Amino acid sequence: MKKYSNVTVMDHPMIQHKLTILRDKTTGVKEFRELVEELSMFMGYEVTRNLALEEVEIETPVCKTKSQVIAGKKLGIIPILRAGLGMVDGMLKLIPAAKVGHIGLYRDPETLQPVEYYCKLPSDVAERDLIVLDPMLATGGSAVAAINFLKNKGAKSIKLVNLIAAPEGVKAVAEAHPDVEIYVAAVDEKLNDHGYIVPGLGDAGDRLFGTK
Ligand code: PRP
Ligand code: URA
Repeated sequence: MKKYSNVTVMDHPMIQHKLTILRDKTTGVKEFRELVEELSMFMGYEVTRNLALEEVEIETPVCKTKSQVIAGKKLGIIPILRAGLGMVDGMLKLIPAAKVGHIGLYRDPETLQPVEYYCKLPSDVAERDLIVLDPMLATGGSAVAAINFLKNKGAKSIKLVNLIAAPEGVKAVAEAHPDVEIYVAAVDEKLNDHGYIVPGLGDAGDRLFGTK
């Protein structure tokens, strides 16, 4: 695992292997969906690394003992629609009791600016540790807008999880929200003239839902 100032790149071989198949343009919708879910779960291990533990007493078949469980932390998962939806089930496999809030944003193809069209958050979002999910961090406009939105609702603890980031997106989030840690499977080379990540994987939403 490589760690830069605000971004952790998960270079575990299993993650890199699955990411390669995900990038491949011959990978179909079914496999793409499965891979996004699996990658999200793997990445969830690292994202939840610092969760607090508490000691409980249990009895094994051999004797009584003290052992550790996750302390009752309030977590929230926030997918950015549409593509972030593909990451929810993988993350919920690890933290099944987390509440889920949705932020609907699409990127205007001309201006590349995020346009909000939906938002439904847990009522106690301000008290939760939030994990924002979106497979792609390109210009960073969508992630910055989503995080702005959450902070305006009072959120204080936010992590961002992306499968692939462009350097431009990492920089944009770091400048706008230096307190937000970013977890990615790869930081790619650059954005192209249409704001797509190079080499990237194409349009994550279209590949996930079979549109286009
Ligand atoms: C994609 C992606 C991010 C955004 C990244 O969504 O899922 O939300 O683009 O680009 P940015 O960093 O430049 O903002 P898109 O707008 O294509 O919507 P979709 O998920 O509904 O397909
Ligand atoms: N959104 C995507 O789905 N892919 C990109 O490469 C950039 C933005």
